Amino acid sequence: MPAVDVALGERSYTIQIQPGLLDRSGDTLAALCRSPRVAVVAQRRVWDRWGAPLEVSLKQAGLAHSVHLVPNGEGAKRIAWLQRLYAAFAAAGVDRQSTVAAFGGGAVGDLAGFAAATWLRGVDFVQIPTTLLAQVDASVGGKVGVNLPSGKNLAGAFWQPRAVLIDPQTLRTLPRRELLSGLAEVIKYGIILDADFFEWVRENRTALVSLESEALTHAIRRSCELKAFVVQSDERESGLRAILNYGHTIGHLIEREAGYAGIRHGEAVAIGMVLAARLAVRLGMLESAAAERIRQTIHSFGLPVSVPQSMTVDRMVSGLSLDKKARGGRARFVLPERIGRVVVTDAVTPEMVREVIVESQKESAGRS
Ligand code: GLY
Repeated sequence: MPAVDVALGERSYTIQIQPGLLDRSGDTLAALCRSPRVAVVAQRRVWDRWGAPLEVSLKQAGLAHSVHLVPNGEGAKRIAWLQRLYAAFAAAGVDRQSTVAAFGGGAVGDLAGFAAATWLRGVDFVQIPTTLLAQVDASVGGKVGVNLPSGKNLAGAFWQPRAVLIDPQTLRTLPRRELLSGLAEVIKYGIILDADFFEWVRENRTALVSLESEALTHAIRRSCELKAFVVQSDERESGLRAILNYGHTIGHLIEREAGYAGIRHGEAVAIGMVLAARLAVRLGMLESAAAERIRQTIHSFGLPVSVPQSMTVDRMVSGLSLDKKARGGRARFVLPERIGRVVVTDAVTPEMVREVIVESQKESAGRS
């Protein structure tokens, strides 16, 4: 099956996507690694379930590996865990020729990638993502980092992997909410860049949510192709990459209001995409039928489409100026002009954001 290439000059790499790839990952890594030493950084739950095939494959390929377990989820992205990793790398003899492999969701990729970017001033790094969100988004693009008490991802680097190995079979053990959260980002790619893919995702909803291998592999591949296209055009996030933030401005307000608990990133983005489409309608940029098609599609996947009533609109709106992408105190929004095409604009006022949030909360009240 053809790989997806990310063309970045000497930092180019391929994304391999294939069911059962984990069983053959050792050979792929052996062809790529400068020395037979691999430091695997894995989330505990992932290692318990999927560590065995990776370990067997690494051994068969003649690779010596050390395993460094970190907590599941965002809690791993802390300076304390970075320090522990450095100590563990020193103890395991991870040298300049070694490769660090991130095995798990987006958080482990960010932590292990930042450790790889900084250990001995930078060692090779590969991503073996096991959640849909990480497979279609976090493992591709090279942004790595950890959270600080003053904010998310504040210490980080651009450090491209040497390869990304995606085995869609690992999604079999992913909790359903995590799967749907990843599908929100898949839907996003269609809205921002590819109307045909958006239609394909709509038509293949049942196959995707029931983890049919062919449909899932195609969805991951097309998402990676679209992300690769964006990253190739704007590796350092000075322009086009902003379109990947569709749904994320209001999504971040929702995540912050929820205290980063109880709502998945993809769920917050799902609501954010619906509200951003409504902002585009208000600005006369998008037909209301297209906004409704976006809402209806997201809803059909069982993803949330309205802001929970319990959330405080004043606090949410005041958070707009804290947005990392805000310029001159005004948040920049990615808004669709039609399905398959978005623009970045600062035409959205806090008052408009307030109005769409209030309207959304009324709808959620109407449904409960
Ligand atoms: N690691 C995610 C990105 O670079 O976009």
